Amino acid sequence: MRIALIGTGNVGRALAKAWAAAGHDVVLGSRDPAAKEDLAKELGVPVVGIAAAAEHGEAVVNVTPGAESIATLRTAGAAALAGKLLIDIAVGFTEEPHGTALSHPDVSLGELIQSTFPEARVVKTFTTMDSVVMTGPDTLEEPSTVFLSGNDPTAKTRTATLLTDLGWPPSTHMDLGPIETARGQEHFAHLFMAIAVSQGTYDFNVRVVLPKAE
Ligand SMILES: NC(=O)c1ccc[n+]([C@@H]2O[C@H](COP(=O)([O-])OP(=O)(O)OC[C@H]3O[C@@H](n4cnc5c(N)ncnc54)[C@H](OP(=O)(O)O)[C@@H]3O)[C@@H](O)[C@H]2O)c1
Repeated sequence: MRIALIGTGNVGRALAKAWAAAGHDVVLGSRDPAAKEDLAKELGVPVVGIAAAAEHGEAVVNVTPGAESIATLRTAGAAALAGKLLIDIAVGFTEEPHGTALSHPDVSLGELIQSTFPEARVVKTFTTMDSVVMTGPDTLEEPSTVFLSGNDPTAKTRTATLLTDLGWPPSTHMDLGPIETARGQEHFAHLFMAIAVSQGTYDFNVRVVLPKAE
């Protein structure tokens, strides 16, 4: 699949490398691609402008600071996102990076992106874990859970395929329902940070354990 990652930070780099290694046609979209030539060489992935990246992608992945995501995606233009799978991984904090107060405490960024770009097919996923775990689920002792939220069933199926390509078998996927359920994924950030501080690592994940079958 042609994948455009918007944002060249920790998550953008990790996912670009991993999806390219899985055989996808990946580009990174940056506000300043000229300054990212070394990164492009290091990853073996082109770094282009945000609009060019969005144009390239069949799937566009938002990995920008959540408080800035809508403004950044606007620079791609609604037309470049129309009809496309738009995977949103971002969480917004009032103080970036990774502050302690959510920038969208009463709603989710995922919903706001969906309502701002109504013709895009937004799927929220990967928000509840660190980039090391996103691209290396087998680095944990046991299988864990990856959540999906979104309104479009086909977009979620395509996202699920991309998750599987990174080592997340379908048995680890949990479809939470429509995009409003992105609130749970984003607001989990508080618990994520509390666990990270108490355990002294970001490299963990949660697993949903259901009742035994009758
Ligand atoms: N780090 C994690 O493991 C993790 C886990 C789950 C969710 N998240 C979420 O995923 C998103 C990306 O996380 P990250 O750790 O990759 O962040 P990061 O290292 O800060 O990188 C974000 C990238 O977004 C781009 N960007 C676009 N507009 C920007 C703006 N106005 N200000 C600053 N950067 C801007 C920048 O790339 P250019 O300079 O090239 O444009 C920057 O490198 C965040 O929303 C974060 O909350 C992160």
